Amino acid sequence: MSVKNEVLNILESNKGKTISGQELADILDVSRTAVWKSINLLKQDGYIIDASSNKGYSLSISSDVVSEESIRMFLNEEFKEIPISVFKSLPSTNTKAKEEAISNAVHGTVIFSDEQTSGRGRFGREFFSPADSGIYMSIILKPNLNLSSSVLVTTAAAVGVLKALDKFTDEKSQIKWVNDIYINGKKVCGILTEAVTDFESGTVESLIVGIGLNVKTKMEDFPDELKDKAGSLLLNQNDNSIRSQLAAEIINNILSISENLENKEFLKIYKNRSLILGKQIIYTKNNKVEEACAHDIDEFGRLVILKNDGKIEHLSSGEVSI
Ligand code: BTN
Repeated sequence: MSVKNEVLNILESNKGKTISGQELADILDVSRTAVWKSINLLKQDGYIIDASSNKGYSLSISSDVVSEESIRMFLNEEFKEIPISVFKSLPSTNTKAKEEAISNAVHGTVIFSDEQTSGRGRFGREFFSPADSGIYMSIILKPNLNLSSSVLVTTAAAVGVLKALDKFTDEKSQIKWVNDIYINGKKVCGILTEAVTDFESGTVESLIVGIGLNVKTKMEDFPDELKDKAGSLLLNQNDNSIRSQLAAEIINNILSISENLENKEFLKIYKNRSLILGKQIIYTKNNKVEEACAHDIDEFGRLVILKNDGKIEHLSSGEVSI
């Protein structure tokens, strides 16, 4: 680990407290100049470090810069060693994760970006990803799965996000099949799962789970066409590493659930917190808009619909509205 990252680790775990340059130098066994250079690099990265008191350095508790270390700090012990890359800006974390997956990234690798310039949603839509306000991250999973189980991973990921939100907000979040998360009728999170398949065998080598969560995006900042539909957690809480904590909790949940996919416990939560079950829905199939009742979610995460002619159908992809 670089001196800069080691200094950050110490400041992060002592947020709000002052630590002298000499103390940092002693702990890390480096010169005070090396500490000073690292502090300057961290400030350039956007960290708010108070060095005014002559007593030393302290990382402001209102600092919400996301870094590899700030996420790692909040990971469960068993996931502490996963590879994490944090970028200031990327076109799309899913695109980056796909490239990494192809060049053999390991299970659990995380790509996070503070901003996306070409964030992608389902059905080729754009995903609005402004800087400093959201969680835009992709997790590379390498489960032994066939393509049909990929829907289940998407389902599991939605539950992973929902459980994380439960920890940080009192608002009730609900899942709109397949994997949109809503709070008070507004979409706060979308998930785009993409598969990397082996060209010759056709088997799924990796699944890229891309999560876009609006954490602090202000309503006035959303483009006009999203203002009625999109929502944001608007979490403030002194901004105390809130995005890092949430990101880590989402990673913890998704990695834990995906390791126990076969027990399907998460499906109970998914159904309990569904926004659409029991309701009349509108869905599109073969370019035709149809109406049906959202009846159930089956063991593969497919939506079971009861059509107006009394027939039951299982949908494995698509978009529904109520
Ligand atoms: C949707 O709402 O249709 C899915 C949105 C998924 C957005 C996330 S943000 C991180 C990852 N990178 C992308 O380009 N897309 C996903």
